[in-house]
Amino acid sequence: MDRYIVTGGAGFIGSALVRTLLARGYRVEVIDNLATGYRRNLDEVQDQITFHELDIRDYDRIAPVIAGARRVFHLGALPSVPKSILQPVPSHEVNINGTFNVLRAAAEGGAGRVVFAASSSAYGDTEVLPKTESMSPNPLSPYAAQKVLGEYYCSVFAKCFGLETVALRFFNVFGPRQDPTSMYSGVLSIFLTCLIEHRSPTIFGDGEQSRDFTYVEDVTELILKASEADGVSGKVYNAGNGNRYTLNQTWDLLQKMEGVSIPANYGTPRAGDVRHSQADVTAAVRDLGHAPRFSFEEGLRRTLAWYRDDLERQAVASDSGVTLVS
Ligand code: UD1
Repeated sequence: MDRYIVTGGAGFIGSALVRTLLARGYRVEVIDNLATGYRRNLDEVQDQITFHELDIRDYDRIAPVIAGARRVFHLGALPSVPKSILQPVPSHEVNINGTFNVLRAAAEGGAGRVVFAASSSAYGDTEVLPKTESMSPNPLSPYAAQKVLGEYYCSVFAKCFGLETVALRFFNVFGPRQDPTSMYSGVLSIFLTCLIEHRSPTIFGDGEQSRDFTYVEDVTELILKASEADGVSGKVYNAGNGNRYTLNQTWDLLQKMEGVSIPANYGTPRAGDVRHSQADVTAAVRDLGHAPRFSFEEGLRRTLAWYRDDLERQAVASDSGVTLVS
């Protein structure tokens, strides 16, 4: 049976993709070193997958797993713009060397198409919105530069080594299982847990920066489409929703949804931050059949419900003395 590899499959987007693939009846193998992902993200599907606790920096160990796979979804990365500024070495090693290793393993091992998780941070600040793939990249952080180089490597592997590749620039993906506990966590995971616990979030800067927040299931569907579409190898596509909301609008919306009033705190702007982000999805719709299904509010509702259930699960587990090992 054909094998589908997901690097970073224990992460937030990777574990959602694993579920999407399993729902299609595919045989799924995960490569993850659990640096930022968790085994618990795969809890109820663990019997249906093969889990390889491996680091993508270790070519010799990942190569045999990737060899011969039908599709490789390369989502393994050290995410976060600010983390890449504070700790550029590990993020370089994982995001650049690790990506090269995955592509090399796929090319040398005769694997099928690689779909790469690129980033909307590639654009930096542009004068024009929405952002289209024809704009020149303008990375403002090591993370953004690393993701742009990953795209270039994808297209060069397609040109020079005959490996099929597609790069998708993810635009601020959110949804269930996004880890809210780190200082580098995605802003919506932080906002939603603050909302449930009636705490004030800290907004970095004036809150007028905007993002194209994209619900995770719309992204996993697009990833699947990108893995099968004809005539797209070597190309880069936006994986966004096409809308944008400022952080102030977003926190207001969440308070209204819950019927509460919790003023946010404001802190200094974050280094490397992009001001506005909004995807032009024309090319993804035309070439890949992208069809986002979830409005921002619907995505927020689903994600909020998931965090609420998760907090209850954790409370029950701690009452019963069960330790949740991550
Ligand atoms: C960037 C990329 C995104 C990528 C992600 C990986 C852009 C436009 N987006 O996300 O494609 O997937 O890196 O990590 O570059 N913020 C607060 N308070 C908080 C946390 C964050 O105000 O507690 C602010 C940040 O300063 C930023 C915004 O919220 O302005 C979004 O931050 P975050 O969720 O970390 O994502 P990006 O850095 O935008």
